[in-house]
Amino acid sequence: MNKLLIAAMMMAALTACSQEAKQETKEAAQAIASDVKNNTASAVDAAASSVQEAASKVADTAEKAASEVKEAVAPEAKPAEKTEAPAAKVDGKAVYEATCKACHSGTIPGTPGVGKKDEWEPRIKQGQETLHKHAIEGFKGMPAKGGNEGLSDDEVKAAVDFMANESGAKF
Ligand code: HEC
Repeated sequence: MNKLLIAAMMMAALTACSQEAKQETKEAAQAIASDVKNNTASAVDAAASSVQEAASKVADTAEKAASEVKEAVAPEAKPAEKTEAPAAKVDGKAVYEATCKACHSGTIPGTPGVGKKDEWEPRIKQGQETLHKHAIEGFKGMPAKGGNEGLSDDEVKAAVDFMANESGAKF
């Protein structure tokens, strides 16, 4: 009888014990889980902010590099533009209309009129260089640069080419 009681009490004690242990384990697991959750969250936050920092650093560096490249390239690019721009950009037609048309529209006798091939033929035969020279330096009744000293040589040349090409030349 005694033995049985003891056995029963032991069983009861064991059951209680294991239930408590279960509860404890559950709580511990929950605590760990929430800890892990918090830690992970803050670790992710930290990682995100350091990624952001790194990204802005990269952007800064890229900007700096770009402006450095610009500075390094700019001085070399400018002279190149200067040497190539005038020939390419001068609009011979515009120069003609502004300065040369007054005399060369074909209304003044002795002045070769633009479009009048017969009047230009003997002049074109002299060659492009001679026509450029005569237009820049002046030639008989033709004033130097058409009287407009503000024109560059390239502008006068472009106007000559335009006028001659309108009149049968292939400059
Ligand atoms: C004030 C009037 C006048 C203006 C403005 C004028 N020209 Fe002339 N141009 C003349 C006369 C006049 C001649 C003919 C000269 C001759 O052969 O006796 C001439 C001739 C020329 C010839 C032919 C030269 C040759 O060797 O046969 C060219 C090219 C020419 N002009 C270009 C121009 C250009 C380019 C302009 C404008 C930038 C211009 N002219 C503006 C009066 C003018």
